[in-house]
Amino acid sequence: MKLTVVGGGSTYTPELIDGFARLRDTLPIEELVLVDPAADRLELVGGLARRIFAKQGHPGKIVTTSDLDAGVEGADAVLLQLRVGGQAARDQDETWPLECGCVGQETTGAGGLAKALRTVPLVLDIAERVRRTNPNAWIIDFTNPVGIVTRALLTAGHRAVGLCNVAIGFQRKFAKFLDVAPSEVHLDHVGLNHLTWELGARLGGPEGENVLPRLLTEHLDAIAEDLHMPSDVVTRLGVVPSYYLRYYYQHDAVVREQRTKPTRASEVAAMEKQLLELYGDPKLDVKPELLAKRGGAFYSEAAVDLAAGLLGRSADGMATGGSPYQVVNTFNKGTLPFLPDDAVIEVQASIDATGATPLPVPTLDPLYAGLIAHTTAYENLALEAALHGSRDAVFKALLAHPLVGQIEYAEKLTDELIAHNREHLAWA
Ligand code: G6P
Ligand code: MN
Repeated sequence: MKLTVVGGGSTYTPELIDGFARLRDTLPIEELVLVDPAADRLELVGGLARRIFAKQGHPGKIVTTSDLDAGVEGADAVLLQLRVGGQAARDQDETWPLECGCVGQETTGAGGLAKALRTVPLVLDIAERVRRTNPNAWIIDFTNPVGIVTRALLTAGHRAVGLCNVAIGFQRKFAKFLDVAPSEVHLDHVGLNHLTWELGARLGGPEGENVLPRLLTEHLDAIAEDLHMPSDVVTRLGVVPSYYLRYYYQHDAVVREQRTKPTRASEVAAMEKQLLELYGDPKLDVKPELLAKRGGAFYSEAAVDLAAGLLGRSADGMATGGSPYQVVNTFNKGTLPFLPDDAVIEVQASIDATGATPLPVPTLDPLYAGLIAHTTAYENLALEAALHGSRDAVFKALLAHPLVGQIEYAEKLTDELIAHNREHLAWA
């Protein structure tokens, strides 16, 4: 099996390599290609990747290249983990929205829209090149904002599935509380990417006993502390919101906090500098501890499971490895009846060689359905703006965003977004 990682020069890549090495029986990779335009990073990251494979006895070959077309040629699956404009562009996304009292975040609010506008055209171009060399290749999208990017890919007819590590993080946390293997915990996970709630946590599978009420009694403080949310609110909801819900439920408090702190992008940029120095050490042959301080912990495991599900199973559903269910981003197709079929949702799905099929979701409380519907409308307009850019399209998307919604702010944020992203927007 040949697997290609676009954005392979990312400092995150050793996380992925570590997962590929540990889980090689689930996903037997023969050739792994790391593609990145930054040749210097690629060399450092590629060197460490080869040492990790060698140390763990992985027989796969690791190739590095800055030539995208050569890198994706004949790949069975292509993982997208790129960041247009790097941490510098992210730093902007996290800064200028604050001037209008809007959260400064790379996937939520006006900053998230800026990222979508920079990213969607490039990702569609990459996917087109993948399709030209291998129309059957699967595209696994980690590139944020995952919901909008996946919707762009699926709408253009690509074989794509969007992935995020939020669910796998909860699965591991809950498994630890319960003292069981992570694969024993099945989450009733619902919403949109970075706008999700765990409605239940079941033992053994989708029909298993729901132990979430027990977890919320026995581990309430630890759960609430992780989310930075008041524990009595978590109790009253009776579900576990993802930490991204904080940007909605505690929006103004987050803005006040962000105004006094350096941006996450600047913290990450400092960490990346350190990581690259570590990667250059020829004696290093394991994933460094420092990587655990990044938000993407466990994403390698989600990637291995998903690639194994998509590639290692025949169309009749015969499992050869990995779990049959996984939380992914895919077309709604009636799963949440109040959304259009072509909205992209993040839910449990069964995964096989035909792709992702969402499991049924019970009727949602209006508290969750309302925000999901509102944000889906924004995502639809955000995709419109990314595909057919204009000032007007950006303004409409911001006016539709639950965290903006007012003409005064939408006008100003539109101007700021365009001013800060001109070099990345072909139409601006
Ligand atoms: C979480 C999210 C990812 C995001 C990451 C940021 O893992 O699910 O979508 O990219 O956090 O982490 P960072 O360390 O870059 O702030
Ligand atoms: Mn994510």
